[in-house]
Amino acid sequence: MLEKKRILLIVSGGIAAVKVPDLIRRLRERGASVRCIVTKGGAQFVTPLSLAALSGEPVYQDLFSLKDESEMGHIRLSREADIILVAPATADIMAKMVAGMADDLATTALLATDKPVMIAPSMNVMMWTHPATQSNLQILKDRRVEVVGPGAGDLACGEVGDGRMAEVLDIVGALTQFFQKREHKGGLVGVRALVTSGPTHEPIDPVRYISNRSSGKQGHAIAASLAELGAHVTLVTGPTHEPVPNGVQVVHIETAAQMMNACRTALPTDVVVCAAAVADWAVDGANGSKIKKSGGKMPALKLTENPDILASLSQPGPQRPGLVIGFAAETDNLLENARAKRAAKKCDWIVANDVSIGTGTFGGDSNTVHLVTAEGVEEWPTLSKRAVAERLAARISAHIQRHR
Ligand code: CTP
Repeated sequence: MLEKKRILLIVSGGIAAVKVPDLIRRLRERGASVRCIVTKGGAQFVTPLSLAALSGEPVYQDLFSLKDESEMGHIRLSREADIILVAPATADIMAKMVAGMADDLATTALLATDKPVMIAPSMNVMMWTHPATQSNLQILKDRRVEVVGPGAGDLACGEVGDGRMAEVLDIVGALTQFFQKREHKGGLVGVRALVTSGPTHEPIDPVRYISNRSSGKQGHAIAASLAELGAHVTLVTGPTHEPVPNGVQVVHIETAAQMMNACRTALPTDVVVCAAAVADWAVDGANGSKIKKSGGKMPALKLTENPDILASLSQPGPQRPGLVIGFAAETDNLLENARAKRAAKKCDWIVANDVSIGTGTFGGDSNTVHLVTAEGVEEWPTLSKRAVAERLAARISAHIQRHR
């Protein structure tokens, strides 16, 4: 999505400017070109030289630099971009944007542009919550300025609360989503999608169960991204703390058997994404009453294998969805196991992710995946789970357009 996109990055004077080099690196990794304007304040936190080295472009600082004006006027600078990103955006630059001030190169470029603008606010919690900043934020939103973050956490000033600039991967995700919405808007209108998400709980007795560490973040994000592209989405989910995405029809289940039934009821559908971490085993003859301890004697749990929902939905037949996508959660031999899973379960695509301890995939916010299809393996960069979902939804949309 960011391939060949031209981003004019305005770096204003906040401590979060130290994250900008990483942001530039991540954007360029994804094929975007980045040109920087740095304010006087911004240059206190990050050197123009490092921005120039990382972006591979000159860095613009002065409104009245003869050199800049002869080579690249501020108007051209602001028009030759696909989007202007202000990161970090201080309370000061937000106020200047609202007032239409143009007292330096950054504010002049923002006033002279006809391109979309995104801001990543970053400031002290009191400055962020101040009515002046909140009212400026509302005015900017009303003017269709895109806003990413801020998040909550420890702030550089020693206080805790809202005001931390959004994480670099979330800014990248917001840009991706912005371009995706613009280019693929409505790409899945009229398409029915079924998504499974979260873990399942397999009861041992009325108070205990077998489960796993799945958070449901990835599956829920996929359901949200498909719905954003216009799909009619049914989300069948095990117990999670994730909010139900807007515009998605949700079916809550607990066990693998219930998930299977809910999926069958949701057929026919055009696309299925099985992102749930379905428990592999259920307890055979789970007890109707609580198992009591009995003097050190261990209860014997007899396990029985759960139905494989992905394999069952992939079976050839009139009800088979046109595109069936599974996940492969692996700790060893990722690609080998993913390819084997694709063949064994007869699904069309497998999203392979490494869930070893240390990767932070289970429960975490980012994911590094490979997409395994009949054509081969695509290695995707590390993305937030939201960005993985958006990219997958865009791929699904492109596939469906091609096969319509
Ligand atoms: N899956 C499913 N039903 C099951 C088990 C798995 O639908 N009973 C789906 C998952 O949603 C995922 C894919 O199958 O899309 C692979 O799941 P994974 O846990 O990686 O593999 P398993 O099939 O459980 O095999 P193993 O645990 O041996 O790796």
